[in-house]
Amino acid sequence: MLELTAKVHDESRQGEAFSPFENDVNEYRKKFYIESYGCQMNFSDSEIVASILNNEGFGATRNFEDADLVLLNTCSIREKAEQTVRKRLTEFRKIKEAKPGMLIGVLGCMAERLKSKFLEEEKLVDIVVGPDAYRSLPGLIEEAETGQKAVNVLLSREETYADISPVRLDSNGVTAFISIMRGCNNMCSFCVVPFTRGRERSRDTYSIVAEAQNLFERGFREVTLLGQNVDSYYWIDETTSPVGRGSEEAVTFAKLLEKVALVHPDLRVRFSTSHPKDITEEVLQTMANYKNICKYIHLPVQSGSTRILQLMNRTYTREWYMAKVKQIREIIPDCGISSDIISGFCTETEDDHDDTLSIMEYSKYDMSYMFIYSERPGTLAARRYKDDVEESIKKRRLQEIVELQNRLSLESNKRDIGKTFEVLIEGDSKRSASDWMGRNTKNKVIVFPKGNYNYKKGDYVFVKVNDCTQATLLGEAVINKP
Ligand code: 5AD
Ligand code: SF4
Repeated sequence: MLELTAKVHDESRQGEAFSPFENDVNEYRKKFYIESYGCQMNFSDSEIVASILNNEGFGATRNFEDADLVLLNTCSIREKAEQTVRKRLTEFRKIKEAKPGMLIGVLGCMAERLKSKFLEEEKLVDIVVGPDAYRSLPGLIEEAETGQKAVNVLLSREETYADISPVRLDSNGVTAFISIMRGCNNMCSFCVVPFTRGRERSRDTYSIVAEAQNLFERGFREVTLLGQNVDSYYWIDETTSPVGRGSEEAVTFAKLLEKVALVHPDLRVRFSTSHPKDITEEVLQTMANYKNICKYIHLPVQSGSTRILQLMNRTYTREWYMAKVKQIREIIPDCGISSDIISGFCTETEDDHDDTLSIMEYSKYDMSYMFIYSERPGTLAARRYKDDVEESIKKRRLQEIVELQNRLSLESNKRDIGKTFEVLIEGDSKRSASDWMGRNTKNKVIVFPKGNYNYKKGDYVFVKVNDCTQATLLGEAVINKP
């Protein structure tokens, strides 16, 4: 399938479900197994669910056949994502037939979208929980244990799980996600997220900074602040608590970035995702001011055609987006920029498609996540417009987008040959245990030989780039700063 040749945002991590708690699993009364699909937010939510379950006496296992409770944290963003989950459920059902006591739960966006329909359609699902209802999991498990079907898909205007300390699953011990807000108010016409994740709300600033501090103390060296639209982060401390910390001053995303950057100069800060209409100059200036705020922005364009952008309800024009890219390049020279691109949205013509290709050239994306438009029930686009671009045309256009991005990625990497970057080591290279893999500030993956140096995971190393592929920079450790 074509999409697989592209860097696939969501489904690429499917099937991963690990826990650092494996060795301790016997300390727990029961075992749960969790698999996450979709965006980083879902992976982050699974870590909240793991924390809630640990408190209930469930330890994580990597082996679903050992589990008393199997959970799938699901994604609805495209039809294909839902199909993948359905296939996986069929496999779990077979196991359940041999082990009837095992409970199967569906979490996340598909649970929210399909609600109790899930229990009717997918007969062996026992528990259905939407993204704002994870606190009710213990009660739902109890209900399910007595043979009742357990559902909670209530969305909330307040829930941010601010007080829950996530249990890091599948962690490399160096990088971690911190969820800073939930939901989305944007209503892009193609997107199901506002329906499955509800209204936007920001998490308490103190709890975010405390989580970053705690991660740093535990040896983590990079945090990614996560939200559907991080630039609209906005939080006011209204407490006049005895601790006396109430300040009434609003914390914007720029202020939040600064507060997290101040946790420690050795803690890198990243964030995702930015909406082109909302990213402010103040955010860009803050990025420029702090060395440990990574010089990388994921700035989804979706389409390069003003007419399509309007139908998508993105609220910016082609020119406006291009001006934003220019502003980024002025304030943060050599900033990494990546994008999300949809091919074949309703009524898209060849001219519109050409506009997408040319805005990609203009923006010189280092990387993009590229998708074929997939109509989602209930969205504005599904209600208003016909999904009228033929599948073969959508695919051909995607192919052209992917090929262009491949060229842009290679060109971008070639421009980095000869440069020296500070790299945070994340672990062994996938290909060889005698090489390290890390990233530079621009989020580019760099692989280099371990050599005779005594570096370890979590160290910062200067690496000189001397070669590259389209996806990776190849280099060697050097002692001196550039
Ligand atoms: N069809 C195809 N791609 C979509 N995305 C969101 N909704 C759809 C859809 N209905 C893409 C957008 C978004 C990314 C997370 O997924 O590009 O930025
Ligand atoms: Fe969906 Fe648009 Fe919100 Fe992103 S910003 S989650 S694409 S509605």
